[in-house]
This record gives sequence, structure tokens and C-alpha cells, in this order.
Amino acid sequence: MVAIPGPSVVPDRVMKAMHQASPDIYSDEFHTLSASVHSDLKRVVQSENIYLAAYIANGHGAWEAALTNLFSPGDLILVISTGIFAAGWARFADALGIQAEVMEFGFRNDIDTERLAERLEEDKDGQIKAVLTVHVDTASSVRNDIQSLSSILKDSGHPALLLVDCIASLACDPYRMDAWGVDVTIAASQKGLMLPTGMAFVFFSHRAMQAGMGAKLRTPYWDWNRRVNPDEFYQTYCGTAPAQHLFGLREALDMILNEEGLENVLQRHAILAKAVWAAVDQWGREGPLECNIVNREKRSHAVTALRAGAPYGAQLRQWLSTHTGVTLGVGLGAGTPDDPEASGAFRIGHMGHLNAHMMMGTLASMEAGFEAIGCPRGQGAIEAAAAEIKRLEHFRTS
Ligand SMILES: Cc1ncc(COP(=O)(O)O)c(C=O)c1O
Repeated sequence: MVAIPGPSVVPDRVMKAMHQASPDIYSDEFHTLSASVHSDLKRVVQSENIYLAAYIANGHGAWEAALTNLFSPGDLILVISTGIFAAGWARFADALGIQAEVMEFGFRNDIDTERLAERLEEDKDGQIKAVLTVHVDTASSVRNDIQSLSSILKDSGHPALLLVDCIASLACDPYRMDAWGVDVTIAASQKGLMLPTGMAFVFFSHRAMQAGMGAKLRTPYWDWNRRVNPDEFYQTYCGTAPAQHLFGLREALDMILNEEGLENVLQRHAILAKAVWAAVDQWGREGPLECNIVNREKRSHAVTALRAGAPYGAQLRQWLSTHTGVTLGVGLGAGTPDDPEASGAFRIGHMGHLNAHMMMGTLASMEAGFEAIGCPRGQGAIEAAAAEIKRLEHFRTS
């Protein structure tokens, strides 16, 4: 089983839904299916007043789509970094000739909104066109408070757009695009949406659409206007529609929205995450293991980054995949340049199609692994996790 933070486990039901012969992509039936997927994806970001451009791409494609639809060479953007992914987005911007100013908060913290407020205050003539950040950084596993960040922007009266990468968090951590006033949300198919990699989504507000009208970086393939206002269906995906992905998405969205219910999905993620943290707290009592993000309120419900000290992180991952069939995520960005393994970083992905017995199986396998590699640790981890799991009021049956 993969317990990595994406691609996540694809449910059999989704695989079966994808396993269909190619349909007539010019039929009304197929166009209706595509439209239903688009409108349900908007329900997942909790927004009604937005456009959705869907791409046959991974998350990096959606980054580029957002940048090219909004900006021109020389534009200044402020990128707020709390791990590795926002900085990656900034590098894309740089490569496109956009000036990306990175405000760095390190690998173990969330955003300090006061520093943002000060920077916006300095920018009297509104040079900063947009503020970009990630909701959840999949490497550090921090969850940023997007609502507060948006309030800072609004209260400052600064006209910058707010762009948020929700690739790790969508359908895992609560996210409300409309209520929080986000202009652009980036997502992809392979994490909380439970699909294979291959589709990426850019949700954008009317304000963003207007702001991007003069963007000189726009190219025909990434152009979001044509995708949301197609003269004919063909333009919705700028070419042949990804039929099997859309079949899979239809099934996954039924599972999320119409069967389990989004609130229950989010609650399940919260409880499974807390089970992980409860186990780590116990293990960490008498050993090196700790969560990368110390403050629980700032941790994502989709992924937990851990530090076990060298050499335990790498040894544990190796032992688990060899002896138990559980694959944990590699640590990203946590070591030092001289010694990337120093923190013994690794990650547990707990996103998407995951239930209590999968989570408990992962944690119990880790217990066995710590014993096998001789990693010092406290006792009682599995009992502590079970105490959290017991709070689950429903479970996913399929
Ligand atoms: C927060 C975040 N942003 C961006 C990406 C890049 O997405 P992709 O690998 O699909 O291109 C990832 C991938 O893990 C991610 O977790």
C-alpha cells in the first residue's frame, strides 16, 4: 500500500469507472458528463462564483497555466514560502520573466501574516500584482491559514490577487474559496481526488479573469478564456478530452459529494491525521521521532512530515517496504545541504481513499519497523492512535 503524499491510493471503483472503451467525445451524453464533473469540482473548492479551466497536466502544468494567464514579463509577484513548493512555483515564474519576490518562512513554520502586512504597506504604488502561496506544503506538511492571509490583503486595501496551491489539500483539509476570497486555486487529480495523475485544475474568479485580460505571457494551449467559454466543446480541453479521467472523476466525485459527503470526508481526514500524531507523540516520548510541524493547529490533515534523525528515517522506509508492503514517503527538503539525511525525514501520506484499518495498518507496521531497526521510542503508540480512531462516526465501505 502506498502511504505517500501523492499519487494516493486509487479506489477500485474509480479504476473500474476508468476502464471503459473510449466514448464518442462529440455526444451530448459525454458533454453532459464533463459539465457535471466541472460543476461538482467547484463544490469541492466550495465556490459557485468561479470559472474552472481543466488541463491534461500535472500540478506543475496548473502552476504555469495560472502564471501565463495572469502576468506579463517584468510583473512583480510576492511568493510566500513555507516548505519547498511555493519556491518551486516562484522558479517557474522567474523562468517566464516574472519577478518573483520570495518571502521565506523556513521549513517548520506557517506564514507570519504580520510580515506580509508590512510588505504590502511598503508597496504604496501597488507594484505587487499577486500574492502566491500553498495551502498545504506537502514537504513540510504545514497548513497555512489562507483565510487570515486573505483578510490581511483585504484590510490593507492592496489590489494584489491571491493565488493558492491546493494540490495537497483539496478534499482533505477544509478549504473555502469563495468565503475566504481567493482569486485563483490550483489543484490536481492525484491526491484527495483519488485519481491517477493526469488532470490539473485552475479555478479562478471574475476579478482574476479581468486582471489577466492584458497578460502577455498567455499562450494558446494554457489560455483559460477559451476553456471556460468554448465556442465548441473541443476547446474545453484544447483538443481531445481526457475521457477516462473524466469517467474516473465522475465516480470519485460521487463518492466524495454524494455518498460520504464532503464534511464527512474532511472529518475522516482530521481523525486519521490525529491518529498519526497521537502515535508520534507516544513514540517521541523516549526517542528521536517528532512531527516536523510542532504546532498541531498548523498541521495538514493530508500528510505528516516526520523527523527521526539519521539513519532511522531511511532505514524505516526501507524496512517497511521490504517487510510489510507499506511505502512511506521520502523526506523532502528537511535536511541540510551538507547532509540531506541528517533529519531522518520521511512522510506519511494520509490523503484520499483511506480508512481506519489502512491507517492503523500503517502505524502498526511502523511500530514493527522501529523495533526491527532498533530505533528508540516510547510505548503505547498504537493504543493512542486507536483512541483517536474510535471518534470516527462513519467509515468508508468501498
Ligand atoms: C503542494 C504541491 N504543489 C505542487 C505540486 C506539484 O504537482 P505535480 O507533481 O502534480 O506536478 C505538488 C506535488 O506533490 C504539491 O504537493
